[in-house]
Amino acid sequence: MAGPVVDAVRFVDVAGVDEVVEGEGKIVFVGARRLALFRDGEDVHCIENRCPHAGGFLGLGRVEGCQVRCPRHDWAFDFTTGDCLSDPRYDVRRYPVRVEGGRVLVGVAE
Ligand code: FES
Repeated sequence: MAGPVVDAVRFVDVAGVDEVVEGEGKIVFVGARRLALFRDGEDVHCIENRCPHAGGFLGLGRVEGCQVRCPRHDWAFDFTTGDCLSDPRYDVRRYPVRVEGGRVLVGVAE
């Protein structure tokens, strides 16, 4: 019997871990994707940069704890889960992150 289909994930080096500063986002590119990194202590999180409401850049948003507020209309997102705290219909995609050798690697589908 066939197992479940799993999308292959490729981890891509996007930044030095020291470039991701607590309290602010960092926008990075993986091919045509624009992603936003956030720091929470030793952990780094990655979500889609584009706000699903009207395209604001979440990587430029104001950070409060583990939340980022969209710079366009102030909606709040939890960057550790991708949850939109202002309207649950607008959650953003979250990407897996590895920190290895001082570098941040983000997992994207092949
Ligand atoms: S574009 Fe982000 S809240 Fe409107």
